[in-house]
Amino acid sequence: MATTTTNPLRDARDKRLPRIAGPSGIVIFGVTGDLSRKKLMPAIYDLANRGLLPPGFSLVGFARRDWENEDFATVVHDAVKQYARTPFSEEVWKHLSEGFRFVQGTFDDDAAFDTLSDTLKELDETRGTGGNHAFYFSIPPSSFPIVCKQLARAGLAEHLPEEWRRVVIEKPFGHDLTSARELNSIVNSIFPPESVFRIDHYLGKETVQNLLAIRFANQLYEPIWNSHYVDHVQITMAEDIGTGGRAGYYDGIGAARDVIQNHLLQLLALTAMEEPVSFDPKDLRTEKTKVLSAVQLPKDLLANTARGQYAGGWQGASMVKGYLEEDGIPADSITETYAAIKVMIDTRRWAGVPFYLRAGKRLGRRVTEIAVVFKRAPHQPFSHTETEELGANALVIRVQPDEGMTIRFGSKVPGPTMEVRDVTMDFSYGQAFTEASPEAYERLILDVLLGEPSLFPQDEEVELSWKILDPIEKAWARKGQQPEQYASGTWGPASADAMMARDGRVWRRP
Ligand code: BG6
Repeated sequence: MATTTTNPLRDARDKRLPRIAGPSGIVIFGVTGDLSRKKLMPAIYDLANRGLLPPGFSLVGFARRDWENEDFATVVHDAVKQYARTPFSEEVWKHLSEGFRFVQGTFDDDAAFDTLSDTLKELDETRGTGGNHAFYFSIPPSSFPIVCKQLARAGLAEHLPEEWRRVVIEKPFGHDLTSARELNSIVNSIFPPESVFRIDHYLGKETVQNLLAIRFANQLYEPIWNSHYVDHVQITMAEDIGTGGRAGYYDGIGAARDVIQNHLLQLLALTAMEEPVSFDPKDLRTEKTKVLSAVQLPKDLLANTARGQYAGGWQGASMVKGYLEEDGIPADSITETYAAIKVMIDTRRWAGVPFYLRAGKRLGRRVTEIAVVFKRAPHQPFSHTETEELGANALVIRVQPDEGMTIRFGSKVPGPTMEVRDVTMDFSYGQAFTEASPEAYERLILDVLLGEPSLFPQDEEVELSWKILDPIEKAWARKGQQPEQYASGTWGPASADAMMARDGRVWRRP
Protein backbone atom coordinates (compact mmCIF):
# COMPACT_ATOMS: atom_id res chain seq x y z
CA MET A 1 0.00 0.00 0.00
CA ALA A 2 1.27 3.44 -0.79
CA THR A 3 2.17 5.40 2.27
CA THR A 4 3.07 8.97 2.86
CA THR A 5 4.64 10.14 6.05
CA THR A 6 3.72 13.46 7.52
CA ASN A 7 5.13 14.81 10.68
CA PRO A 8 2.30 16.33 12.73
CA LEU A 9 4.77 18.68 14.37
CA ARG A 10 5.54 20.09 10.95
CA ASP A 11 1.96 20.19 9.76
CA ALA A 12 1.94 23.60 8.18
CA ARG A 13 -1.80 24.19 7.98
CA ASP A 14 -1.53 27.23 10.25
CA LYS A 15 1.28 28.62 8.06
CA ARG A 16 -1.21 29.10 5.23
CA LEU A 17 -3.01 31.82 7.16
CA PRO A 18 -1.80 35.30 6.20
CA ARG A 19 0.97 36.33 8.50
CA ILE A 20 0.30 39.83 9.81
CA ALA A 21 3.06 41.81 11.49
CA GLY A 22 2.50 42.87 15.09
CA PRO A 23 2.91 46.46 16.36
CA SER A 24 6.09 47.84 14.78
CA GLY A 25 7.80 50.39 12.57
CA ILE A 26 10.78 50.77 10.26
CA VAL A 27 13.47 53.44 10.15
CA ILE A 28 15.22 53.71 6.78
CA PHE A 29 18.74 55.10 6.57
CA GLY A 30 19.56 56.07 2.99
CA VAL A 31 15.93 56.88 2.38
CA THR A 32 16.67 59.24 -0.52
CA GLY A 33 18.43 56.48 -2.49
CA ASP A 34 17.23 54.51 -5.49
CA LEU A 35 16.58 51.28 -3.62
CA SER A 36 14.38 52.99 -1.11
CA ARG A 37 12.32 54.73 -3.79
CA LYS A 38 12.03 51.86 -6.24
CA LYS A 39 11.74 48.89 -3.89
CA LEU A 40 11.35 49.64 -0.17
CA MET A 41 8.64 52.35 -0.18
CA PRO A 42 6.49 50.50 -2.77
CA ALA A 43 6.90 47.21 -0.87
CA ILE A 44 5.75 48.83 2.38
CA TYR A 45 2.71 50.26 0.62
CA ASP A 46 1.93 46.89 -1.01
CA LEU A 47 2.13 45.18 2.38
CA ALA A 48 -0.24 47.78 3.84
CA ASN A 49 -2.59 47.33 0.88
CA ARG A 50 -2.62 43.57 1.44
CA GLY A 51 -3.54 44.17 5.09
CA LEU A 52 -0.29 42.65 6.38
CA LEU A 53 0.97 45.62 8.39
CA PRO A 54 -0.28 46.52 11.88
CA PRO A 55 -2.73 49.45 12.12
CA GLY A 56 -0.23 51.84 13.75
CA PHE A 57 2.72 50.97 11.50
CA SER A 58 5.28 53.78 11.23
CA LEU A 59 7.89 54.63 8.63
CA VAL A 60 10.69 56.97 9.59
CA GLY A 61 13.06 58.38 6.98
CA PHE A 62 16.50 59.56 8.08
CA ALA A 63 18.57 61.66 5.66
CA ARG A 64 20.44 64.90 5.14
CA ARG A 65 17.71 66.64 3.11
CA ASP A 66 15.97 69.62 4.63
CA TRP A 67 12.54 67.99 4.58
CA GLU A 68 9.44 68.22 6.77
CA ASN A 69 7.28 65.15 7.37
CA GLU A 70 5.01 66.34 4.53
CA ASP A 71 7.89 66.54 2.02
CA PHE A 72 8.87 63.00 2.93
CA ALA A 73 5.28 61.84 2.51
CA THR A 74 5.20 63.41 -0.97
CA VAL A 75 8.35 61.53 -1.98
CA VAL A 76 6.91 58.24 -0.72
CA HIS A 77 3.63 59.00 -2.48
CA ASP A 78 5.39 59.52 -5.83
CA ALA A 79 7.44 56.35 -5.38
CA VAL A 80 4.35 54.32 -4.52
CA LYS A 81 2.39 55.71 -7.47
CA GLN A 82 5.24 54.87 -9.82
CA TYR A 83 6.51 51.54 -8.53
CA ALA A 84 3.95 49.81 -6.30
CA ARG A 85 2.68 46.43 -7.48
CA THR A 86 -0.87 46.72 -6.18
CA PRO A 87 -3.45 49.37 -7.14
CA PHE A 88 -3.40 52.69 -5.33
CA SER A 89 -6.06 53.12 -2.65
CA GLU A 90 -6.62 56.57 -1.09
CA GLU A 91 -7.90 54.95 2.06
CA VAL A 92 -4.86 52.72 2.57
CA TRP A 93 -2.55 55.60 1.73
CA LYS A 94 -4.22 57.98 4.19
CA HIS A 95 -3.97 55.52 7.01
CA LEU A 96 -0.39 54.49 6.23
CA SER A 97 0.95 58.03 5.72
CA GLU A 98 -0.24 59.12 9.18
CA GLY A 99 2.66 57.05 10.49
CA PHE A 100 5.35 58.79 8.39
CA ARG A 101 8.05 60.86 10.10
CA PHE A 102 11.24 62.41 8.77
CA VAL A 103 14.40 63.04 10.80
CA GLN A 104 17.00 65.30 9.25
CA GLY A 105 20.66 64.68 9.98
CA THR A 106 24.00 63.22 9.09
CA PHE A 107 25.45 60.05 10.57
CA ASP A 108 27.95 61.93 12.73
CA ASP A 109 25.28 64.19 14.19
CA ASP A 110 24.52 63.08 17.78
CA ALA A 111 21.56 65.46 18.04
CA ALA A 112 19.88 63.90 14.99
CA PHE A 113 20.03 60.44 16.58
CA ASP A 114 18.62 61.89 19.82
CA THR A 115 15.77 63.33 17.76
CA LEU A 116 15.32 59.90 16.18
CA SER A 117 15.08 58.40 19.65
CA ASP A 118 12.43 60.99 20.66
CA THR A 119 10.54 60.32 17.43
CA LEU A 120 10.39 56.58 18.10
CA LYS A 121 9.15 57.26 21.65
CA GLU A 122 6.48 59.56 20.27
CA LEU A 123 5.41 56.83 17.79
CA ASP A 124 5.30 54.22 20.55
CA GLU A 125 2.94 56.51 22.48
CA THR A 126 0.76 57.84 19.68
CA ARG A 127 0.75 54.96 17.17
CA GLY A 128 1.31 52.00 19.48
CA THR A 129 4.45 50.73 17.76
CA GLY A 130 5.23 49.00 21.06
CA GLY A 131 8.98 49.68 21.14
CA ASN A 132 9.45 47.37 18.14
CA HIS A 133 11.63 49.00 15.52
CA ALA A 134 13.64 47.77 12.53
CA PHE A 135 16.58 49.87 11.33
CA TYR A 136 17.07 49.44 7.61
CA PHE A 137 20.62 50.20 6.39
CA SER A 138 20.18 51.13 2.76
CA ILE A 139 23.61 52.79 2.91
CA PRO A 140 27.19 51.96 1.86
CA PRO A 141 28.94 49.46 4.17
CA SER A 142 31.48 52.15 5.09
CA SER A 143 28.65 53.88 7.02
CA PHE A 144 27.50 50.77 8.95
CA PRO A 145 29.95 51.25 11.85
CA ILE A 146 29.03 54.86 12.56
CA VAL A 147 25.28 54.24 12.32
CA CYS A 148 25.56 51.20 14.62
CA LYS A 149 27.54 53.24 17.14
CA GLN A 150 25.08 56.13 16.99
CA LEU A 151 22.12 53.81 17.53
CA ALA A 152 23.89 52.36 20.57
CA ARG A 153 24.83 55.80 21.89
CA ALA A 154 21.26 57.08 21.59
CA GLY A 155 20.02 53.99 23.47
CA LEU A 156 18.21 52.72 20.39
CA ALA A 157 19.84 49.29 20.43
CA GLU A 158 18.44 48.61 23.92
CA HIS A 159 14.92 47.46 24.56
CA LEU A 160 12.67 45.93 27.19
CA PRO A 161 12.32 42.13 27.14
CA GLU A 162 8.92 42.29 25.44
CA GLU A 163 10.17 44.66 22.71
CA TRP A 164 12.51 44.09 19.78
CA ARG A 165 15.10 46.02 17.76
CA ARG A 166 16.36 44.57 14.46
CA VAL A 167 18.87 45.76 11.87
CA VAL A 168 18.41 45.07 8.20
CA ILE A 169 21.57 45.19 6.14
CA GLU A 170 21.75 45.57 2.40
CA LYS A 171 24.55 44.11 0.36
CA PRO A 172 27.41 44.47 -0.45
CA PHE A 173 28.39 43.12 2.93
CA GLY A 174 32.06 44.01 2.68
CA HIS A 175 34.26 43.71 -0.40
CA ASP A 176 36.26 40.66 0.72
CA LEU A 177 36.49 38.22 3.60
CA THR A 178 38.50 40.52 5.85
CA SER A 179 36.18 43.49 5.47
CA ALA A 180 33.09 41.28 5.87
CA ARG A 181 34.50 39.90 9.13
CA GLU A 182 35.23 43.42 10.39
CA LEU A 183 31.68 44.52 9.57
CA ASN A 184 30.24 41.40 11.19
CA SER A 185 32.14 42.05 14.37
CA ILE A 186 31.09 45.72 14.54
CA VAL A 187 27.41 44.96 13.90
CA ASN A 188 27.45 41.96 16.27
CA SER A 189 29.08 44.00 19.04
CA ILE A 190 25.90 46.11 19.16
CA PHE A 191 23.12 43.84 17.87
CA PRO A 192 22.93 40.14 18.76
CA PRO A 193 23.12 37.82 15.70
CA GLU A 194 19.41 36.94 15.88
CA SER A 195 18.56 40.65 15.43
CA VAL A 196 20.64 41.06 12.27
CA PHE A 197 18.83 40.46 8.97
CA ARG A 198 21.09 40.51 5.89
CA ILE A 199 19.10 41.02 2.74
CA ASP A 200 19.76 38.91 -0.32
CA HIS A 201 16.66 39.84 -2.26
CA TYR A 202 16.96 36.76 -4.53
CA LEU A 203 15.93 34.63 -1.57
CA GLY A 204 12.69 36.61 -1.40
CA LYS A 205 11.75 35.62 -4.95
CA GLU A 206 8.97 33.04 -5.21
CA THR A 207 10.81 31.00 -7.83
CA VAL A 208 13.86 30.72 -5.62
CA GLN A 209 11.76 29.45 -2.73
CA ASN A 210 10.11 27.10 -5.19
CA LEU A 211 13.46 25.36 -5.63
CA LEU A 212 12.91 23.88 -2.18
CA ALA A 213 9.41 22.77 -3.13
CA ILE A 214 10.53 21.24 -6.43
CA ARG A 215 13.36 19.34 -4.80
CA PHE A 216 11.86 18.27 -1.51
CA ALA A 217 8.11 17.98 -2.08
CA ASN A 218 8.47 15.65 -5.06
CA GLN A 219 9.75 12.16 -5.59
CA LEU A 220 10.44 12.81 -9.25
CA TYR A 221 13.65 14.80 -9.21
CA GLU A 222 15.64 13.81 -6.16
CA PRO A 223 16.77 10.37 -7.44
CA ILE A 224 18.45 11.97 -10.45
CA TRP A 225 19.78 15.06 -8.63
CA ASN A 226 23.37 13.85 -8.38
CA SER A 227 26.55 13.04 -10.25
CA HIS A 228 25.21 9.75 -11.61
CA TYR A 229 22.79 11.64 -13.84
CA VAL A 230 23.78 15.30 -13.88
CA ASP A 231 26.50 16.36 -16.31
CA HIS A 232 26.77 19.95 -15.12
CA VAL A 233 24.75 22.89 -13.82
CA GLN A 234 24.62 26.39 -15.32
CA ILE A 235 23.39 29.29 -13.22
CA THR A 236 22.82 32.43 -15.23
CA MET A 237 21.87 35.94 -14.19
CA ALA A 238 21.73 38.02 -17.34
CA GLU A 239 20.58 41.62 -17.37
CA ASP A 240 19.87 43.81 -20.35
CA ILE A 241 20.40 47.05 -18.40
CA GLY A 242 23.75 48.76 -17.94
CA THR A 243 24.87 50.34 -14.67
CA GLY A 244 21.55 52.18 -14.61
CA GLY A 245 22.87 55.41 -13.08
CA ARG A 246 24.59 53.53 -10.24
CA ALA A 247 28.14 54.26 -11.38
CA GLY A 248 29.23 55.35 -7.92
CA TYR A 249 28.24 52.04 -6.42
CA TYR A 250 29.15 49.71 -9.27
CA ASP A 251 32.54 50.91 -10.42
CA GLY A 252 35.28 49.16 -8.46
CA ILE A 253 32.79 46.49 -7.34
CA GLY A 254 31.99 44.66 -10.60
CA ALA A 255 29.75 41.75 -11.49
CA ALA A 256 31.39 39.10 -9.31
CA ARG A 257 31.15 41.06 -6.05
CA ASP A 258 27.81 42.60 -6.98
CA VAL A 259 25.86 39.41 -7.66
CA ILE A 260 27.97 36.23 -7.76
CA GLN A 261 29.18 36.52 -4.15
CA ASN A 262 25.58 36.71 -2.95
CA HIS A 263 22.67 35.92 -5.32
CA LEU A 264 24.38 33.28 -7.48
CA LEU A 265 26.14 31.47 -4.65
CA GLN A 266 22.85 31.36 -2.73
CA LEU A 267 21.18 29.84 -5.81
CA LEU A 268 24.01 27.32 -6.00
CA ALA A 269 23.59 26.46 -2.31
CA LEU A 270 19.83 25.86 -2.69
CA THR A 271 20.36 23.78 -5.84
CA ALA A 272 23.09 21.60 -4.38
CA MET A 273 22.22 21.25 -0.69
CA GLU A 274 20.98 18.10 1.02
CA GLU A 275 17.45 17.92 2.36
CA PRO A 276 17.25 19.95 5.57
CA VAL A 277 15.83 18.25 8.67
CA SER A 278 13.13 20.95 8.63
CA PHE A 279 12.66 24.38 7.11
CA ASP A 280 13.60 26.00 10.39
CA PRO A 281 16.19 28.71 9.81
CA LYS A 282 18.87 26.79 11.66
CA ASP A 283 18.37 23.58 9.69
CA LEU A 284 18.26 25.40 6.35
CA ARG A 285 21.40 27.33 7.13
CA THR A 286 23.21 24.18 8.23
CA GLU A 287 22.67 22.62 4.81
CA LYS A 288 23.51 25.75 2.83
CA THR A 289 26.65 26.25 4.87
CA LYS A 290 27.74 22.68 4.21
CA VAL A 291 27.52 23.22 0.45
CA LEU A 292 29.35 26.53 0.54
CA SER A 293 32.12 24.97 2.64
CA ALA A 294 32.44 22.15 0.10
CA VAL A 295 32.94 24.45 -2.90
CA GLN A 296 36.33 23.95 -4.56
CA LEU A 297 37.90 26.28 -7.07
CA PRO A 298 39.80 24.96 -10.08
CA LYS A 299 43.62 25.17 -9.87
CA ASP A 300 43.97 27.36 -12.92
CA LEU A 301 41.70 30.25 -12.01
CA LEU A 302 42.35 32.33 -15.08
CA ALA A 303 41.50 29.49 -17.48
CA ASN A 304 38.31 28.67 -15.58
CA THR A 305 36.88 32.14 -15.17
CA ALA A 306 36.05 34.95 -17.59
CA ARG A 307 35.77 38.69 -17.19
CA GLY A 308 34.21 41.11 -19.60
CA GLN A 309 33.15 44.72 -19.92
CA TYR A 310 30.38 45.89 -22.21
CA ALA A 311 31.19 48.03 -25.20
CA GLY A 312 28.60 50.04 -27.09
CA GLY A 313 26.18 48.17 -29.30
CA TRP A 314 22.58 47.46 -30.14
CA GLN A 315 20.34 46.54 -27.25
CA GLY A 316 17.17 45.54 -29.02
CA ALA A 317 16.27 48.52 -31.17
CA SER A 318 18.43 51.07 -29.33
CA MET A 319 22.06 51.93 -29.69
CA VAL A 320 23.61 52.01 -26.20
CA LYS A 321 26.86 53.34 -24.78
CA GLY A 322 29.77 51.22 -23.64
CA TYR A 323 30.60 50.97 -19.92
CA LEU A 324 33.56 53.33 -20.23
CA GLU A 325 31.36 56.01 -21.79
CA GLU A 326 28.71 55.84 -19.04
CA ASP A 327 28.36 58.91 -16.81
CA GLY A 328 30.60 58.71 -13.77
CA ILE A 329 32.76 55.83 -15.01
CA PRO A 330 36.50 56.57 -15.34
CA ALA A 331 37.67 56.11 -18.92
CA ASP A 332 40.30 53.58 -17.80
CA SER A 333 38.09 51.58 -15.43
CA ILE A 334 38.94 47.88 -15.25
CA THR A 335 35.70 46.93 -13.45
CA GLU A 336 34.06 43.87 -15.00
CA THR A 337 30.40 43.99 -16.02
CA TYR A 338 30.43 40.28 -16.87
CA ALA A 339 31.88 37.43 -14.83
CA ALA A 340 31.80 33.69 -15.28
CA ILE A 341 33.28 31.14 -12.91
CA LYS A 342 33.47 27.38 -12.65
CA VAL A 343 33.34 25.66 -9.28
CA MET A 344 33.17 22.06 -8.10
CA ILE A 345 31.41 20.80 -5.00
CA ASP A 346 33.43 18.30 -3.06
CA THR A 347 30.69 15.99 -1.84
CA ARG A 348 29.63 12.48 -2.73
CA ARG A 349 26.50 13.81 -4.46
CA TRP A 350 28.32 16.26 -6.71
CA ALA A 351 31.77 14.73 -7.27
CA GLY A 352 32.94 15.59 -10.78
CA VAL A 353 29.94 17.83 -11.64
CA PRO A 354 30.98 21.37 -12.58
CA PHE A 355 28.76 24.29 -11.63
CA TYR A 356 29.16 27.19 -14.04
CA LEU A 357 28.00 30.59 -12.79
CA ARG A 358 27.75 33.67 -15.00
CA ALA A 359 26.35 37.15 -14.54
CA GLY A 360 26.47 40.16 -16.75
CA LYS A 361 24.97 43.47 -17.69
CA ARG A 362 23.92 44.54 -21.19
CA LEU A 363 23.52 40.94 -22.32
CA GLY A 364 21.09 39.62 -24.92
CA ARG A 365 18.08 39.72 -22.61
CA ARG A 366 17.07 39.78 -18.95
CA VAL A 367 16.92 36.25 -17.65
CA THR A 368 17.87 34.40 -14.49
CA GLU A 369 17.79 30.62 -14.60
CA ILE A 370 19.24 27.49 -13.11
CA ALA A 371 19.79 24.79 -15.73
CA VAL A 372 20.51 21.27 -14.57
CA VAL A 373 21.93 19.55 -17.64
CA PHE A 374 21.83 15.74 -17.65
CA LYS A 375 24.22 13.17 -19.05
CA ARG A 376 23.28 11.42 -22.25
CA ALA A 377 21.59 8.04 -22.02
CA PRO A 378 24.39 5.46 -21.72
CA HIS A 379 23.13 3.53 -24.72
CA GLN A 380 21.05 4.87 -27.59
CA PRO A 381 19.59 2.33 -29.97
CA PHE A 382 19.41 4.89 -32.77
CA SER A 383 21.65 5.75 -35.65
CA HIS A 384 23.70 8.92 -35.47
CA THR A 385 21.52 10.72 -38.01
CA GLU A 386 18.36 9.83 -36.11
CA THR A 387 19.55 11.69 -33.04
CA GLU A 388 21.42 14.50 -34.76
CA GLU A 389 19.04 17.08 -33.33
CA LEU A 390 18.90 15.62 -29.83
CA GLY A 391 20.64 17.70 -27.18
CA ALA A 392 21.18 16.84 -23.54
CA ASN A 393 18.13 16.52 -21.29
CA ALA A 394 17.78 19.55 -19.07
CA LEU A 395 15.64 20.84 -16.26
CA VAL A 396 15.56 24.60 -16.21
CA ILE A 397 14.22 26.60 -13.30
CA ARG A 398 13.22 29.95 -14.74
CA VAL A 399 13.75 32.37 -11.87
CA GLN A 400 12.71 35.40 -13.91
CA PRO A 401 11.08 36.71 -16.01
CA ASP A 402 8.41 34.25 -17.20
CA GLU A 403 8.74 32.41 -13.89
CA GLY A 404 8.40 28.65 -14.08
CA MET A 405 10.21 25.50 -15.10
CA THR A 406 11.08 23.82 -18.39
CA ILE A 407 12.06 20.22 -18.99
CA ARG A 408 13.87 19.51 -22.23
CA PHE A 409 13.93 15.98 -23.60
CA GLY A 410 13.98 14.13 -26.91
CA SER A 411 10.86 13.08 -28.73
CA LYS A 412 10.10 11.34 -32.00
CA VAL A 413 9.35 13.63 -34.89
CA PRO A 414 6.02 12.56 -36.44
CA GLY A 415 6.54 10.67 -39.69
CA PRO A 416 7.79 7.40 -41.11
CA THR A 417 11.36 7.63 -39.79
CA MET A 418 12.69 7.41 -36.25
CA GLU A 419 14.02 10.92 -35.98
CA VAL A 420 14.46 12.25 -32.42
CA ARG A 421 14.47 15.93 -31.68
CA ASP A 422 14.47 18.14 -28.54
CA VAL A 423 11.09 19.27 -27.24
CA THR A 424 10.17 21.10 -24.06
CA MET A 425 7.51 20.78 -21.41
CA ASP A 426 6.72 23.98 -19.54
CA PHE A 427 5.27 24.94 -16.23
CA SER A 428 4.51 28.63 -15.97
CA TYR A 429 3.47 30.41 -12.77
CA GLY A 430 1.29 32.80 -14.72
CA GLN A 431 -0.80 29.95 -16.13
CA ALA A 432 -0.82 27.59 -13.15
CA PHE A 433 -1.80 30.02 -10.42
CA THR A 434 -4.21 32.90 -10.16
CA GLU A 435 -2.36 34.59 -7.29
CA ALA A 436 0.25 37.12 -8.42
CA SER A 437 3.68 36.67 -6.85
CA PRO A 438 4.62 39.31 -4.28
CA GLU A 439 7.80 41.29 -4.87
CA ALA A 440 10.86 39.89 -3.09
CA TYR A 441 11.07 42.97 -0.87
CA GLU A 442 7.47 42.58 0.32
CA ARG A 443 8.21 39.09 1.56
CA LEU A 444 11.53 40.05 3.15
CA ILE A 445 10.31 43.20 4.91
CA LEU A 446 7.37 41.27 6.32
CA ASP A 447 9.74 38.53 7.52
CA VAL A 448 11.85 41.14 9.32
CA LEU A 449 8.78 42.48 11.12
CA LEU A 450 7.72 38.95 12.01
CA GLY A 451 11.23 38.02 13.16
CA GLU A 452 11.37 35.15 10.67
CA PRO A 453 15.02 34.70 9.62
CA SER A 454 14.86 31.70 7.22
CA LEU A 455 15.42 33.74 4.06
CA PHE A 456 18.32 35.80 5.38
CA PRO A 457 21.90 34.54 5.02
CA GLN A 458 23.75 34.62 8.32
CA ASP A 459 27.30 35.80 8.80
CA GLU A 460 28.89 32.38 8.24
CA GLU A 461 27.30 32.07 4.78
CA VAL A 462 28.44 35.57 3.87
CA GLU A 463 31.99 34.80 4.99
CA LEU A 464 32.08 31.45 3.17
CA SER A 465 30.93 33.17 -0.02
CA TRP A 466 33.76 35.67 0.24
CA LYS A 467 36.16 32.79 0.82
CA ILE A 468 35.07 31.40 -2.55
CA LEU A 469 35.35 34.71 -4.38
CA ASP A 470 38.51 36.17 -2.81
CA PRO A 471 41.05 33.93 -4.64
CA ILE A 472 39.32 34.68 -7.95
CA GLU A 473 39.39 38.43 -7.34
CA LYS A 474 43.06 38.15 -6.35
CA ALA A 475 43.93 36.21 -9.51
CA TRP A 476 42.16 38.85 -11.61
CA ALA A 477 43.88 41.68 -9.72
CA ARG A 478 47.30 40.06 -10.24
CA LYS A 479 46.62 39.95 -13.95
CA GLY A 480 45.45 43.54 -13.65
CA GLN A 481 44.17 43.74 -17.18
CA GLN A 482 41.33 45.53 -18.82
CA PRO A 483 38.45 43.00 -19.02
CA GLU A 484 37.69 41.69 -22.48
CA GLN A 485 35.16 43.88 -24.28
CA TYR A 486 31.86 42.45 -25.52
CA ALA A 487 29.30 44.27 -27.59
CA SER A 488 26.12 45.25 -25.73
CA GLY A 489 23.22 42.98 -26.60
CA THR A 490 25.44 39.90 -27.03
CA TRP A 491 26.10 37.05 -24.59
CA GLY A 492 29.41 38.13 -23.11
CA PRO A 493 33.11 37.89 -23.96
CA ALA A 494 34.60 35.22 -26.22
CA SER A 495 36.76 34.00 -23.32
CA ALA A 496 33.60 32.81 -21.53
CA ASP A 497 32.73 30.62 -24.52
CA ALA A 498 36.32 29.41 -24.73
CA MET A 499 36.24 28.46 -21.04
CA MET A 500 33.21 26.23 -21.69
CA ALA A 501 34.62 24.87 -24.95
CA ARG A 502 37.73 23.62 -23.12
CA ASP A 503 35.36 21.46 -21.05
CA GLY A 504 33.53 20.32 -24.20
CA ARG A 505 30.39 22.26 -23.26
CA VAL A 506 28.50 25.36 -24.36
CA TRP A 507 26.55 28.05 -22.54
CA ARG A 508 22.84 27.93 -22.99
CA ARG A 509 21.28 30.74 -25.03
CA PRO A 510 18.28 31.41 -22.80
C1 BG6 B 1 21.15 43.79 -7.31
C2 BG6 B 1 22.41 44.22 -8.01
O1 BG6 B 1 21.46 43.05 -6.17
O2 BG6 B 1 20.36 43.00 -8.18
C3 BG6 B 1 22.10 44.95 -9.30
O3 BG6 B 1 23.16 45.08 -7.16
C4 BG6 B 1 21.14 44.15 -10.16
O4 BG6 B 1 23.28 45.27 -10.02
C5 BG6 B 1 19.94 43.70 -9.34
O5 BG6 B 1 20.72 44.96 -11.24
C6 BG6 B 1 19.04 42.79 -10.14
O6 BG6 B 1 17.92 42.45 -9.39
P1 BG6 B 1 16.65 41.78 -10.09
O7 BG6 B 1 15.74 41.44 -8.96
O8 BG6 B 1 16.10 42.80 -11.04
O9 BG6 B 1 17.16 40.58 -10.82
